[in-house]
Amino acid sequence: MSYTNILIEQNEGILEITINRPNKLNAINKETIKEIGEAMVKAEANREVVAIVLTGSGEKAFVAGADISEFAHFNIEDGNRLAAEGQNILFDIVANLNKPVIAAVNGFALGGGLELAMACHVRIASENARMGLPEVSLGVIPGYGGTQRLGQLAGKGKAMEMILTAGMIDAAEAYRIGLVNMVVTQDELLNTCRKMAGKMMHNSPMAMAAAIRSVNAGFKAGVNGFDVEIDEFGKCFGTPEFVEGTTAFLEKRKANFREL
Ligand code: COA
Repeated sequence: MSYTNILIEQNEGILEITINRPNKLNAINKETIKEIGEAMVKAEANREVVAIVLTGSGEKAFVAGADISEFAHFNIEDGNRLAAEGQNILFDIVANLNKPVIAAVNGFALGGGLELAMACHVRIASENARMGLPEVSLGVIPGYGGTQRLGQLAGKGKAMEMILTAGMIDAAEAYRIGLVNMVVTQDELLNTCRKMAGKMMHNSPMAMAAAIRSVNAGFKAGVNGFDVEIDEFGKCFGTPEFVEGTTAFLEKRKANFREL
C-alpha cells in the first residue's frame, strides 16, 4: 500500500511510521489520520511486526497538532464527527493496539500531536521537544482523548493546568510530571526507541497483547481492571507461547516465540 503523508520502514520486527508533512510541522490532516490508522491496523495483523515506533519527519516537530485549516469553518455536527471519527480510526486504535507503540517525540507535540503521543503506550522525547494542548486558545477543547489521557498520565491537577493555560512545557518538565518515559538527545532518539522496541522483541507477543489489554482496562469506565487481569492471566496458560516461555526457562535457554 502506498501512502501520501506517512513513510513506513520495517527492520526485523520493528515497524517505523514517520509522519511526513514537514512543511506543515507534520500537522495531521484528515488524510494523514486515516493513513496512520490504516498502517496501525495493518501492522496489528502482520505477524512479522512485534513493535511500532511512531515519529515525525524533520527535527522540529513530532506533530504540531490537528490541521487547523481543515476545521476552521466547521459547525457543531462537523466538530462532533471530527472528534468521533478521529478517535475511532486512529487514537483508540493506537491505544488499544495489541502490539507496543512507542512515540519518538522529536519536537513540537501540540494538540492532536500530543494526543497522538499520549495514545501510544510509551513516549520517549528529544531534549528540544515541547508539548502542550493549546486548544482553548483556539476556542475549542482537545477532542482526540486529551482531556482524558493527560490526567491519566500526569494527574488531574497538571492536566487542568496545561489545558487551561494552553501553555507548552519542555521535555524536562514532561519527564518530571510523568508525561514522557525518557528524554534523550535528538541524535539518540530513534536508536533509543529502537533499543526499547528491541527489548520487547524478546518477549511473548501474546503476553504483551494481554498486558496492554489489562493495563488499559484499569482506565476504562465501568470496567474492573483486576477482573480483566485475572481473565487475561488465565488465558495465557492455554497458549503455545506460555508453554515455550516456561519450558525455555526450565531448559535454561532463550525462549523463541517468533517461530511458533
Ligand atoms: N495546523 C495547520 N498548519 C500548521 C499547524 C497546525 N496545527 N501547525 C503548524 N502549521 C503550519 C503553519 O501554518 C506554517 O505553514 P505555512 O508555512 O504554509 O504558513 C508551517 O506549519 C510552519 O509553522 P510556523 O507557525 O511558521 O512555525 P513556527 O516555528 O513559527 O511556530 C508553532 C511553530 C508550533 C509554535 C506554530 O506553528 C503553532 O502554534 N502551530 C499551531 C499549534 C496548535 O495550536 N496546535 C493545536 C491544533 S488543535
